[in-house]
Amino acid sequence: MSERLLKDQNVQNNYMDEEYAEFEEFTLSNKVKWIIGIVGGVFTIGILYLFVVLIPSYYIPEASELSDIVKVGELNATLSPLEDPRIKQLGLDAPYDYEGGDDDLDNEESDEKGDIDTIGTSSKKVVERIILIGDIHGHYLAFRKLLRKLKYNSKSDHIIMLGDFISKGPDSLQVLDFAINNNLGCIIGNHEYAVLQNYALFHHLTVPKFTDNSSHSSSRFTIKDSFNSDPEFLLAKKLQPKHIQYINHCPLMLKLGEVPLHKWSNFGGIKSAPGIAVHAGIRWDLSLEDQIPEDTLEMRSYVGPFFNETTSDPHEKHSISWSKYYNKKNLPNKNVVYYGHDARRGLNLKKYTKGIDTGCDRGEKLTAMMIWLQKTPTGVIHYAERPVHVNC
Ligand SMILES: *[C@@H]1O[C@H](CO)[C@@H](O)[C@H](O)[C@H]1NC(C)=O
Ligand SMILES: *[C@@H]1O[C@H](CO)[C@@H](O)[C@H](O)[C@H]1NC(C)=O
Ligand SMILES: *[C@@H]1O[C@H](CO)[C@@H](O)[C@H](O)[C@H]1NC(C)=O
Repeated sequence: MSERLLKDQNVQNNYMDEEYAEFEEFTLSNKVKWIIGIVGGVFTIGILYLFVVLIPSYYIPEASELSDIVKVGELNATLSPLEDPRIKQLGLDAPYDYEGGDDDLDNEESDEKGDIDTIGTSSKKVVERIILIGDIHGHYLAFRKLLRKLKYNSKSDHIIMLGDFISKGPDSLQVLDFAINNNLGCIIGNHEYAVLQNYALFHHLTVPKFTDNSSHSSSRFTIKDSFNSDPEFLLAKKLQPKHIQYINHCPLMLKLGEVPLHKWSNFGGIKSAPGIAVHAGIRWDLSLEDQIPEDTLEMRSYVGPFFNETTSDPHEKHSISWSKYYNKKNLPNKNVVYYGHDARRGLNLKKYTKGIDTGCDRGEKLTAMMIWLQKTPTGVIHYAERPVHVNC
């Protein structure tokens, strides 16, 4: 800047100071103050409206109608028995080591196709493994790490996410996109249900019911609409029709067909029982069709004296871990239940209950349970299962 220009500017500054001093002497009448106040207020509200309502509304995806949620779904996949070479190829013969936490992974995802010899003429997809995965909570990176460790192959494996695969963690939309693109199976968790409710609230739709004609469909869930700050409301606003349709198609419970029945060991054996997948648990005293949706999404314990009521609070008086009670209770045709939701109790494998929420969102682990059929050299079919985990 030239010296002359600088000088000019100094002169100008002095001049402005003088003007400011004059301005101070000038007093506004109360009337003018009011008018300025009102105009300013209206202007501020207008700007706020523009940035908070008008502009964001351009980025809100169109609404998709919601349909009723299937209460008891059937798995559209069946297992083909594996023989020795394939067992070794997939690493299913490796000793089970949960505490070891060995995360050494190949970088490549396996996409070779296993030889699947179809049994029967069912219209179901024939797969080598059914893979159940505990609460992912939007932790997409841990999820992909787990799939690499499993040597997941979308053609020969069928994945079922046990609810709470979105919300809390950083990448819910990526988990959803992956699930949609790879046709992953799912069941609904309390967080997906809350997102469905918030979506309905936001787009002025009716909250979907469970396809069930029983009388107890009261909704205990409350929607927290605290001026757009509830994370589930914010997530619901971002969902495109394909995302909400995916969440909406996840059933409350899923019948899995025959699964291994054994006191917990690495492997399983020749015994089997019907298996089901559910997010939190089931009431022992009701049939699957009669289960109460809110209980299956939220329970952690049964409450005495009859243990036919549930609570999500494991410290509630007169309550007992639902899985503990369910395993001890003598019942005809007991289902083996695969579930998540209970990160505090962590990996919880019993004969009739398999809890596999291992607290990924708390920085702990993400766990999958693989189920497969194994044909021994003598031709006997074994039902086998094994958990696999990665650190989050
Ligand atoms: C089940 O899967 C098979 C093969 O992928 C498909 O042909 C069939 O339509 C599916 N059935 C249902 C009920 O989705
Ligand atoms: C629901 O309705 C069907 C027939 O419409 C009936 O067979 C079934 O028992 C009903 N279930 C309940 C829980 O009321
Ligand atoms: C629990 O069982 C008791 C005794 O059989 C019965 O009186 C009560 O109504 C049941 N409660 C529920 C919620 O089913």
